[in-house]
Amino acid sequence: MIERDMTYEVLARLLEERTGQNLTPSRQWRVESALSALLREHDAVSVDELVAHLTSPFGCPLSSRVADALLNNETYFFRDQMIFDALATDVLPDLIARRTASRRLKVWCVGCSTGQEPLSIAMLLAERKALLEDWSIEIVATDVSHRALEVARNGSYTAFEAQRGLDMKRMIRWFEEVDGRWKVSPELLRNITYRHHNVLATPPRTGEFDLVLCRNVLLYFDAATRSKAFGQIATGMAPDGLLLLGAGETTVGQTACFEPAQKPAGMFRLTEAARRAAGTSVAA
Ligand SMILES: C[S@@+](CC[C@H](N)C(=O)[O-])C[C@H]1O[C@@H](n2cnc3c(N)ncnc32)[C@H](O)[C@@H]1O
Repeated sequence: MIERDMTYEVLARLLEERTGQNLTPSRQWRVESALSALLREHDAVSVDELVAHLTSPFGCPLSSRVADALLNNETYFFRDQMIFDALATDVLPDLIARRTASRRLKVWCVGCSTGQEPLSIAMLLAERKALLEDWSIEIVATDVSHRALEVARNGSYTAFEAQRGLDMKRMIRWFEEVDGRWKVSPELLRNITYRHHNVLATPPRTGEFDLVLCRNVLLYFDAATRSKAFGQIATGMAPDGLLLLGAGETTVGQTACFEPAQKPAGMFRLTEAARRAAGTSVAA
């Protein structure tokens, strides 16, 4: 049996190594409930016992599932409605206007969880179909959680999940009720590519994303890790791309790569220094 403090140390190290996230004392209270399914599956009576299994020959796949279970995957459709209103009325129309020559739009959802965020963006774009006829639209949605990505790829939600943030009109327009669950329209899924990816690694594209959403992902990183994540995100972005963070999150004082965009609140753009480092420069 392993001492409780040592148990948390092992779990904290595992989570940090795999995701960059800190298992802060304020998150420790939910460890037991987060691991309850794995405890049952492995006939373990306590978290200490489950952690002891990590050193067994079967420990490697278990480690990955333990780290996954410790992640906070909380999300819902159109989370922070005001931001999605701003995307619909200002940000996307402006982006579309700036990309009329190339007719391409690339969006990256970092920490997409179970898919509600990329689907919300996909709905906003699909509702502008007339404007985007013949455009190449790509939404790359990434997460370190295999479990969350599996749900996202299935695109099937409980009534409770679907109702969280979706109005009736959108539920009916974009989802079909199948056996009591709400299955997303293939038309929306078509433009989304789900990928397992750690935001601390090289981004899925270099210098290409017009819009990056990284909301409620960097909260549990320490300052150095957060700064590294901002550096990787910056590398993925087009020189005039925009970064959207979660409510109350900022790049100010955290990185030299981004500065607040003029509007709306919560949007950030690359600094001139970051654009120069990438070999590009854009008039502000
Ligand atoms: C709280 S959810 C936020 C989901 C969505 N962005 C939103 O705001 O509704 C945070 C997500 O970030 C993911 N995540 C945590 N660390 C990550 C990392 N290092 N790289 C990529 N995704 C990560 C988690 O698995 C989780 O799905």
